[in-house]
Amino acid sequence: MSQTLFTPLHKNGAEFSNRIVMAPMTRCRAIGNVPNDLMATYYAQRATAGLIITEGTSPSPNGLGYARIPGIFNQAQVEGWKKTTEAVHATGGKIFLQIMHTGRVSHSANMPEGSKIVAPSAISADGNMWTDSQGMQKTEMPEAMTTDEVKATVQEYIQAAKNAIEAGFDGVEIHAANGYLPNQFLNPNSNTRTDEYGGSTENRSRFVLEIAQGIVDAIGKEKTGIRFSPYNPFNAMGQFDETFETYDYLAQEMNKLGILYVHLLDGAARAAGKEGLELLAKIRETYHGILIVNAGYDKERAAHALDVEKADMVSFGSKFISNPDLPYRFEHNLELVTPDQNTFYTPDAVGYTDYGFSEN
Ligand SMILES: Cc1cc2nc3c(=O)[nH]c(=O)nc-3n(C[C@H](O)[C@H](O)[C@H](O)COP(=O)(O)O)c2cc1C
Repeated sequence: MSQTLFTPLHKNGAEFSNRIVMAPMTRCRAIGNVPNDLMATYYAQRATAGLIITEGTSPSPNGLGYARIPGIFNQAQVEGWKKTTEAVHATGGKIFLQIMHTGRVSHSANMPEGSKIVAPSAISADGNMWTDSQGMQKTEMPEAMTTDEVKATVQEYIQAAKNAIEAGFDGVEIHAANGYLPNQFLNPNSNTRTDEYGGSTENRSRFVLEIAQGIVDAIGKEKTGIRFSPYNPFNAMGQFDETFETYDYLAQEMNKLGILYVHLLDGAARAAGKEGLELLAKIRETYHGILIVNAGYDKERAAHALDVEKADMVSFGSKFISNPDLPYRFEHNLELVTPDQNTFYTPDAVGYTDYGFSEN
């Protein structure tokens, strides 16, 4: 039977009312790094998605590299997130928290006192980022983590996942994509460590796998998802020879763990040509859980991904910002509103909760 975006999904011990996922999107509106009422309203507006994945949320003061991103490491943040989970559940939605540690993609002006910028190795991301107090700045040189610090950071992730469950989330997504800390470990251009967390594919993957195993043990495999972006150069992730081998290995390990879903940004792999396409096919073959695909999908491409390419769900990013009732609009072939990029990452309500619903 052919699957559509509107076919409910029962797989891996979870149920979703449709296959439309709201992709994680940082919005920089958590003043003081604490989730607030505005965010609860925003996510509740989008609760007709089969699954919402929140904006990237830090498991540690060290992971707050961007201005005004939320955390999930103290009680005020847990209480703040409860407003969102309660509002989403009240409208019948499901919501996972994305755990994002910025690692070297960071500036100290954004971070709380006593925190520090850490990464697998002292290699700069060499990018630009916004700070509220100093305007645009260069990302700063990170400190290479000691082996003990790596292990302590794994524990921060596990605690963050437990906190997310306490805050009422249906599960968590480990952000291992787009050049943030776990991705910095996977890539030998940013990881030149000589301990058990660097070198071979197994060693570079160890940080990610210890986090995934620890979270599965703490909150359950049916509540744990992970995001990968093979070949994606975003945030200074240079290409490397062992990409296929690394993500093939990760897919095998995710399958062994029985993790609920793998959320794959597939655009860069598609652009990488034959090897990238082979990797995408291999991941689908190896990993038997829920495969969510993303980046640049519209309704037609999404239907093809579900029906022909054997994806289970498709996530949509920017379309969900400006179309809070995106599933309804898809179902009724309504026109989509284009988001105003000038209001991305700004602190107040404009361009966040003020996009209209279609007449229904
Ligand atoms: C404003 C904005 C913020 C984003 N923040 C995150 C984030 O916090 N975590 C993440 O994994 N991806 C983030 N992304 C990437 C999206 O999840 C998604 O991969 C991207 O928008 C491509 O999907 P689309 O073509 O449907 O928009 C962000 C994208 C946008 C537009």
